[in-house]
Amino acid sequence: MADSYLPRAEYEFSGDSICSDSVDPDPLEQFRCWFDEEARSGERDGNRMALATADAQGRPSVRMVLLKKFDSTGLLFFTDYGSRKAIELEQNPHAALLFHWPRLQRQVRIEGPVEKVSREISEQYFSQRPRNSQVGAAVSRQSSVLLDRQGFETEVKKMLEGEQDIDCPESWGGYRLLPQLFEFWQGQSGRIHDRVLYRLDSGTWQRSELQP
Ligand SMILES: Cc1cc2nc3c(=O)[nH]c(=O)nc-3n(C[C@H](O)[C@H](O)[C@H](O)COP(=O)(O)O)c2cc1C
Repeated sequence: MADSYLPRAEYEFSGDSICSDSVDPDPLEQFRCWFDEEARSGERDGNRMALATADAQGRPSVRMVLLKKFDSTGLLFFTDYGSRKAIELEQNPHAALLFHWPRLQRQVRIEGPVEKVSREISEQYFSQRPRNSQVGAAVSRQSSVLLDRQGFETEVKKMLEGEQDIDCPESWGGYRLLPQLFEFWQGQSGRIHDRVLYRLDSGTWQRSELQP
């Protein structure tokens, strides 16, 4: 008997068509357009994205984070500056982002160098977070080994119940990815998907289409 492969049912795609002439010449505007369409489709968490980094030896790692802002300065996310991703970004300040929006059968890849945002931006965003998220950021040394779960939870509870404002920890803040590449992928029937690539070439975005 032949081996079987997942999934058991075939995935069928059939989205609106895109090509290099139908998209916005500015990839950020195209991204905004798709991001808004995703929100209108009823998806509340369209800002979830996979963030891929690599260490000094080029070994990759990937995890989900939340996009918190995007504009002409880049795409912002926030995290612990001592976490594994942060250590990798220190060694190799380049990253790749991936959004998957299955309702509209779309994915968007974005790649480029990454830099820390200003302390002012980190503090501003931190001050808007709910208290329990602030506590999590203040107590957790993200990605370090947890030796005492109970002690950790006691510390969280104590801070949560406290009255004092929680300052943005020095070891916590934002990163900005400065895009140099975007790929917009639209699923189509028979796996003949649409792929439009933008590459930043001497300050100008160049568009092309890729084979599916
Ligand atoms: C949907 C989702 C959103 C997440 N958003 C963030 C985020 O914005 N920042 C963050 O540091 N971790 C976030 N996490 C947790 C990360 O996936 C990851 O576990 C954590 O950042 C540690 O990763 P690292 O050890 O590679 O640094 C999120 C997880 C999920 C599933």
